Amino acid sequence: MLFDAFKIRDIVFKNRIAVSPMCQYSSVDGFANDWHLVHLGSRAVGGAALVMTEAAAVEARGRISPQDLGLWKDEHVPFLKKITDFIKGQNAVPGIQLAHAGRKASVTRPWDGDSPLGEAGGGWQAAAPSAVRFGAGSQVPYALTLEEISAIPGLFAAAAGRALAAGFQVVELHAAHGYLLHEFLSPVANKRADAYGGEFKNRARLALETARAVRKVWPAGFPLFMRISATDWLGDGAWDIAQSVELARALKNEGVDLVDCSSGAIAPDVAIPAGPGFQVPFAERIRREAGIPTGAVGFIVSPEQAETIVRTGQADLVLLGREYLRDPYWALHAAPRLHVKVPPPPQYLRAL
Ligand SMILES: Cc1cc2nc3c(=O)[nH]c(=O)nc-3n(C[C@H](O)[C@H](O)[C@H](O)COP(=O)(O)O)c2cc1C
Repeated sequence: MLFDAFKIRDIVFKNRIAVSPMCQYSSVDGFANDWHLVHLGSRAVGGAALVMTEAAAVEARGRISPQDLGLWKDEHVPFLKKITDFIKGQNAVPGIQLAHAGRKASVTRPWDGDSPLGEAGGGWQAAAPSAVRFGAGSQVPYALTLEEISAIPGLFAAAAGRALAAGFQVVELHAAHGYLLHEFLSPVANKRADAYGGEFKNRARLALETARAVRKVWPAGFPLFMRISATDWLGDGAWDIAQSVELARALKNEGVDLVDCSSGAIAPDVAIPAGPGFQVPFAERIRREAGIPTGAVGFIVSPEQAETIVRTGQADLVLLGREYLRDPYWALHAAPRLHVKVPPPPQYLRAL
């Protein structure tokens, strides 16, 4: 099953294995460069069906760090095109995650401390549903006006248009991990009293409007994914799996094809029972109750584990993050363990 093809709309994935989006914090002014070409290209050589870029910011202030990838201007397109050409040349599908960091914007990259960037250090004012900060040491964001909120779906749609020009065949909207769209969904970060806050319908409004706006410009033959945090792990009064199921049903009506099921990161220091496949039950439940294909992610490491997830109908795709940092050829290495023949690229045949 893991190596069975899977079709969404007109796009055929040669197997069920995807490279999960992972920030590389290696861009200048949002541009992709040789690092991204080699990093993503190696994983396409390594046999993954879907190679997804890291979060690409839809506007400059929507970056987590100044070194984030971006797609807020046409000049970003040509180098990305080079990357998608290479990925397609390996018979893999290039995907891009579109993102806005919201209140978690303007910090230094992890290996520089992940700390708030003051204006003197090149930082900027973060924008969020409400003027509520992420953690004790975080910047206090300002609350977006209704007029500014109404522009956000258009920012994602414009970036999707550029993604199309750059040759991507999958767009994933990032509505997880405490970034802007998740901040609207979750009562933990959304304290608004207008049409974008309060009851579920209002908190879900921006995610749904964004999906609708992107679906309008994204070709009918190409898949649209959304990554969500299926739960905040914060109990009552926060975002949870029941709301995620309801959101997934609504997303399906907006033409979203797959829900990529992550969790957490709306607040710091939350106790999360992380362990092998700990988020898989969310993918399974959303798939079953909302009737939409799902992606499973989180501590998926072994071929047997990935195979079981797909074979037992818990998810349609598995996304691997850190394991793909350890082994760019994970899919090629997994195949023989599952008694499946997947030839390496012809350049590497002599190593068989
Ligand atoms: C270095 C790094 C960067 C990441 N960047 C992103 C990102 O840009 N977008 C996203 O949705 N998740 C991001 N994640 C989360 C991963 O996509 C994945 O969901 C998480 O690492 C759990 O999967 P794993 O146990 O296979 O690593 C990142 C993770 C790592 C390790």
